[in-house]
Amino acid sequence: MSKLFTNVYDPIMKPLETGGFGAIRENLLREATGRVLEIGAGTGVNFPYYDAAVEAVDAIEPDDDMRNQSHERVREATVPIRLHAVRAENLPFPDQSFDTVVATLVFCTIPHPTLALREIERVSKPGARVLFFEHVRLDQPALGKIQDALTPLWKKAADGCHLNRDTLGMIQQSKLDVTNVDSHYKGVFLTIHGNYPE
Ligand SMILES: C[S@@+](CC[C@H](N)C(=O)[O-])C[C@H]1O[C@@H](n2cnc3c(N)ncnc32)[C@H](O)[C@@H]1O
Repeated sequence: MSKLFTNVYDPIMKPLETGGFGAIRENLLREATGRVLEIGAGTGVNFPYYDAAVEAVDAIEPDDDMRNQSHERVREATVPIRLHAVRAENLPFPDQSFDTVVATLVFCTIPHPTLALREIERVSKPGARVLFFEHVRLDQPALGKIQDALTPLWKKAADGCHLNRDTLGMIQQSKLDVTNVDSHYKGVFLTIHGNYPE
């Protein structure tokens, strides 16, 4: 990831976080319990939202600069957070380790998202909860095509982020039972709640 992108990430996101993302994250992460795996934690924006229902968080983030920026939020968090310099496609955790998996604004960027979903499935306990907050390709064909056209340029500007990923479709094709999908900002962003079968 480019140093420029990592340095501007928090300042660029700040108006969005105060304008609505913060509330979305807070509502979503209220459901996190027990041992939590967070995928692509970035600068640790989610860390303040973990509460006493969470035993500990293993947060993976492959980018050194993003991970380094999250250290202050690790120190300030009210639950133990361990950082790991690894990718979602190859997780260093035993099978059936986690009660909750969290992924926010990350499935747009992961190079091999279906592999990552398989790894999440492997390390999740039976019945584990998975919580996503992601931007997705829009249903309306004309708008979806605009996202397709913008994606090659956007990927260069935003370090590999695809504007047009059908993340919900990918999740629905995995072993996860989707229990709830909420639309935000006219469907550009979705919160997706799922459970693995017991
Ligand atoms: C747009 S940022 C989102 C950060 C944070 N989750 C948030 O909600 O603000 C996307 C993050 O995904 C990380 N990422 C990219 N490829 C990844 C992979 N293969 N596995 C895990 N994380 C990855 C990037 O390094 C970056 O920190």
